[in-house]
Amino acid sequence: MALQRTLLAAIALLGATAQATGVSGTAFGFATGTTGGGNAAAAAPSDITQLTEWLTDSTPRVILIDKEFNYLNSQGKCTDCKCCIPSSNSCGSSGQNAIDLDSSSWCGSYPTTTCTYDKAAIDGINVASNKSIVGVGSAGVIRGKGLRLVNGVSNVIIQNIHITELNPQYIWGGDAITLDGTDQVWIDHVKISLIGRQMFVAGYEASGRVTISNSEFDGQTSWSASCDGHHYWTVLGYGKNDKVTFTGNYIHHTSGRSPKLEFNSYWHVYNNFWFNNTGHAFDIGEGTNALIEGNVFQQVKTPFLADSSPGKTFAVTASDKSTCDSALGRTCAANTLTSSGTLSASDESVLSSWPSGESGIDVLDAGRVKSSVLSNAGVGKLSSATSSKKARQFDGWGHALSSAGPGATPCATPSGAAPKWTWKTIGVKPTHQPSGFPPLPKESHGAGSGSFPFGFF
Ligand SMILES: *[C@@H]1O[C@H](CO)[C@@H](O)[C@H](O)[C@H]1NC(C)=O
Ligand SMILES: *[C@@H]1O[C@H](CO)[C@@H](O)[C@H](O)[C@H]1NC(C)=O
Repeated sequence: MALQRTLLAAIALLGATAQATGVSGTAFGFATGTTGGGNAAAAAPSDITQLTEWLTDSTPRVILIDKEFNYLNSQGKCTDCKCCIPSSNSCGSSGQNAIDLDSSSWCGSYPTTTCTYDKAAIDGINVASNKSIVGVGSAGVIRGKGLRLVNGVSNVIIQNIHITELNPQYIWGGDAITLDGTDQVWIDHVKISLIGRQMFVAGYEASGRVTISNSEFDGQTSWSASCDGHHYWTVLGYGKNDKVTFTGNYIHHTSGRSPKLEFNSYWHVYNNFWFNNTGHAFDIGEGTNALIEGNVFQQVKTPFLADSSPGKTFAVTASDKSTCDSALGRTCAANTLTSSGTLSASDESVLSSWPSGESGIDVLDAGRVKSSVLSNAGVGKLSSATSSKKARQFDGWGHALSSAGPGATPCATPSGAAPKWTWKTIGVKPTHQPSGFPPLPKESHGAGSGSFPFGFF
């Protein structure tokens, strides 16, 4: 009884902590150490005015997005404004014309036209440092305006929100998330849909250490630059000195730039699921080092576009996996492609120059990725992510369930007292017994105690 009470108290304390910090889990990958608003009391703004205030002021905050914050029409409309018809738009109203912004010469000599668009989406909200922006359940939506992290902003967490409806009819209609001169940004369980321009853009200044995880890039649109209902402007990595961990994401119904990378950056792209891309996924230009492993590509026309001045890429296949394993001192995972074009790149200098500082990486075998991504990526899935992450990472003996099946990776000898396990708490029945561990109990769960050689809790 005493133990039970202690446990209940401990669980209650955990619950209270989770509520106070708002954020689920902790930043991993290159953005390890990102704490956002830290322990600031979580609070929900009442309306878009207060949300904008809280995002832009200099107070560390945990901002709960507990409903839809709708910025449409909050700055009025530009009516009969200058637009142009780029040559890509061969399909009229189901294509994208471009807003002819004064600051851009993009329209060049394309034929001009007029258009009406929402002004709020053109520039994102200038998010300040030390903020956590966290959706509650599946309720968190920011409609009609994106988030801009620029000019030295650092330590920001964006989790479990849906950013949508940024003038999707128009190129230059708005970007969902912009980084330009940042450090330590963790974007997790975010959904992005119906954007005019980039769903994510970094650059040209350095974006520093970034992790983009468990997010959904939904390219379905009625206004497609490729005239086929798919969004072209997906992920653009143009920052310099960027280190980006990109994992667990679902990129679907896009037609280009998924992602387009250039300049001096490192992108570790693992365990993502690409589905139904009618154009290209990767376009890797000069100065970029990309390590692409354990991803699934299904119905992706061109997984890897030939760039005129290509960067350095190592995309793991079954045959060069061991090269990757020995260079990085861990188990790499091959990519798998079905009903897709080819992905072939094996520049080993990517492996030998891979930077340190990317913590908490757990690369799964590609065979586990599609179902994991479909159940975890996007908004309203924080609890399933937590439980399925536990279930998928370990077998009953605390061995990582990675590339070559259960128990492939021997775990390190634990230090300190090992926690007790039961099959109930582990949730996964072990399939074999590695040497040096206690024998498998007969029961499937509730079999008492033993040493669980891993920091499971
Ligand atoms: C963010 O928080 C850190 C740590 O508390 C502090 O040193 C830094 O000045 C804060 N940044 C801003 C812009 O307030
Ligand atoms: C994939 O994209 C094509 C082309 O836009 C479309 O016709 C098809 O319905 C899509 N398939 C699925 C399953 O979404």
